[in-house]
Amino acid sequence: MSGRLVTEIAGLKLANPTMLAAGILGLTGSSLRSVVEAGAGAVVTKSVGLKPREGYPNPTVVQVECGLLNAIGLPNPGIHHFGEEIREAKEAGVPIIVSVYGFSSGDFAEVAKVAAGAGADALELNVSCPHVEEMGAEIGSDLDLVAEVVREVKKKVGKPVFVKLTPNVANIAEIARAAVEAGADAIVAINTVRAMAIEIETARPLLANRIGGLSGPAIKPIAVRCVYEVYREVDVPVIGCGGITTWRDAAEFMLAGASAVQIGTAIAFKGLGVFKSVARGIDAYVKKKGFGNVKEIVGLAHKSF
Ligand SMILES: Cc1cc2nc3c(=O)[nH]c(=O)nc-3n(C[C@H](O)[C@H](O)[C@H](O)COP(=O)(O)O)c2cc1C
Repeated sequence: MSGRLVTEIAGLKLANPTMLAAGILGLTGSSLRSVVEAGAGAVVTKSVGLKPREGYPNPTVVQVECGLLNAIGLPNPGIHHFGEEIREAKEAGVPIIVSVYGFSSGDFAEVAKVAAGAGADALELNVSCPHVEEMGAEIGSDLDLVAEVVREVKKKVGKPVFVKLTPNVANIAEIARAAVEAGADAIVAINTVRAMAIEIETARPLLANRIGGLSGPAIKPIAVRCVYEVYREVDVPVIGCGGITTWRDAAEFMLAGASAVQIGTAIAFKGLGVFKSVARGIDAYVKKKGFGNVKEIVGLAHKSF
């Protein structure tokens, strides 16, 4: 891939600005490596907590118009059983970002510390899961809790800390600002949008958990708006996520202010080829517009008024 695509996020060097989003193919070292081989510039693991967790009963993922609805319930082996996967993923030679969740700031800090010790190049704090009680979006909707989690993690680890935000709040920019003032090195926007679907013959919710998170093309305009608002508010890199399927989607996020983009649901619909097709398309777009590097298009939509 061309040198025009090389970029940097909080000191991490990426050969291109595409990244794997948390929760899709991120549970094992070998699946993470397959995403790197497919062309991702960096990968984010499935969210990992302090203790092993089973997740919810099926159905946990259903297809709806323009996307997926999921309430998986954060199944994971726990950070103490995840080190081997991190070490294996690292052999792929791109930045490995470990997504961390917790039920308290102490949990977050402990998981982040173990992940960093196992070789994580950065931590992504999942304060935005829409379907697990007493954590996730319940933390991510509260300015003070977000700040406390970030401060605790920063105290314990010397690696870059990304904070992944929920769109299910009135003012995402003020949450981003609280995270950055507490020490966040980058903001990821967005996690899934709280949503549900009902089967009309049986009159029952489709997901076993009833409510879940919507992802895919349906949420793209929401995510673009969130990136735009966060970019205006903070001076750290913003990583865009939500419905990115084509290079045009990725370009839109970058013009809104994203320094890199994460891709999740599109893998289910288009396969792993999506990373190369997005990267190549962005490269051609940057060249066609007369720029020398992809960094030059970041935030351009803010300058056109
Ligand atoms: C099946 C599934 C599992 C997910 N698991 C996680 C997770 O463990 N941690 C997290 O922060 N986000 C998780 N997400 C959210 C994605 O990382 C992403 O923020 C969201 O799906 C929007 O991007 P997309 O439209 O490209 O999928 C999950 C999404 C899906 C569809």
